[in-house]
Amino acid sequence: MALSGLFLCSFLVIHLTINLFALQANHDKTAESFWGAEMFETYGHFMATHPVIRPLEWGLFAGFLLHAILGIYLYLLNRKARPVQYEVNKAGENSTWSSRFGWLTGILVGVFLVVHVNTFFVQSRFFGQEPMIRLMIEAFSSPAYVAFYMVALVFLAYHLKHGFQSAFQTFGLRAGKFEKLVNAVGVVFWLLIPIGFAIIPLYFLFAY
Ligand code: HEM
Repeated sequence: MALSGLFLCSFLVIHLTINLFALQANHDKTAESFWGAEMFETYGHFMATHPVIRPLEWGLFAGFLLHAILGIYLYLLNRKARPVQYEVNKAGENSTWSSRFGWLTGILVGVFLVVHVNTFFVQSRFFGQEPMIRLMIEAFSSPAYVAFYMVALVFLAYHLKHGFQSAFQTFGLRAGKFEKLVNAVGVVFWLLIPIGFAIIPLYFLFAY
């Protein structure tokens, strides 16, 4: 669970870095053209066609699937370990919300992923030849769609708040001199990365 989670975290860093190049796009409404997003399109084309990257795509989907399946398995194992619930359980006093509801934030991020992958990946790969930047301009022109992203990113933030440090706890690395480092890098993942993602739909909504 920890390894697949950290693998998915590494995907988030690459995905955000590439997508931030889309912010360079400049759209001329009158001429119906755009410019400035060449880096974004070049990387996108590279990722979609390179013979080494294509198999990695399958690895990524397998990573998501494995993470979800292991999550369900651990949840069931946990319940089986204590079939009779505690008489008094003040969960809020000894655990955080994000740790108790990791399963729920995980499911909600999963729902987001199905919609998201359908909007961009499926549409560009299997239907139509539009440049990716156009798909983004179209999708993020809808305030409802952008609001959906904002809510999903809050869930992603909660999911990573627990998940990131929990992975290092599994490896026994969230102790001693490593604890501060893990917590600091954790902030990058649960706070800065979701904020970075949130900037993109908001930019397209307000700039075009
Ligand atoms: C909110 C800002 C985001 C934007 C603008 C964005 C944009 C995109 C685009 C353009 C693609 C298609 C890439 C291609 O087919 O070449 C894509 C695919 C994908 N996105 Fe996102 N994404 C965002 C957030 C996220 C988040 C938060 C996750 C994960 C939790 C995610 C997971 C994926 C996955 C798994 C794919 C399919 C694999 C791939 O094509 O790389 N995305 N995204």
